[in-house]
Amino acid sequence: MFEPRVVCFFCKWCTYAGADLAGTSRKQYPPNGVAVRVNCSGRVDPQHILWAFREGADGVLLGGCHPGDCHYQDGNYNTMRRLSLLKPMLKELGIDPDRVRLEWISAAEGDKLVSVMNEFVDEIRELGPMTVDLGEKLSGVEAPPEAKDVKIAKQSKAKAKKK
Ligand code: FES
Repeated sequence: MFEPRVVCFFCKWCTYAGADLAGTSRKQYPPNGVAVRVNCSGRVDPQHILWAFREGADGVLLGGCHPGDCHYQDGNYNTMRRLSLLKPMLKELGIDPDRVRLEWISAAEGDKLVSVMNEFVDEIRELGPMTVDLGEKLSGVEAPPEAKDVKIAKQSKAKAKKK
């Protein structure tokens, strides 16, 4: 069965801590996520999302503090605005905009993290592997420094078709 790779840009103050809480509480959630810990969801530039897709992500999950709780005041509002601008661009590139999701998950919401991960991985599984080759089109996009050691395993197209 196709197992999606989901790059998770999680704010360290809330969603990343929520994922930690889920882990320490021994809650089960799919191991499909590749976590990138960022200072704020507002730190995630659209090119970071494009980088994730170029490197083989099938989906990208952004997690930030609830509106009003951002440690940098309006970082999460900026994220929301940027995402609404990015989605039409994704369409232009042939990427289903549903492959990107933004969720507000606090440090205390380990259960929400688990249900969002389960739901999103199921949705991406339904959509199937990301088959758009972005190598040439997006050769200039860069990873955020927080992801410099992150490897997103690429599933070869041939392998994905067999499954
Ligand atoms: S500090 Fe968490 S979204 Fe801004």
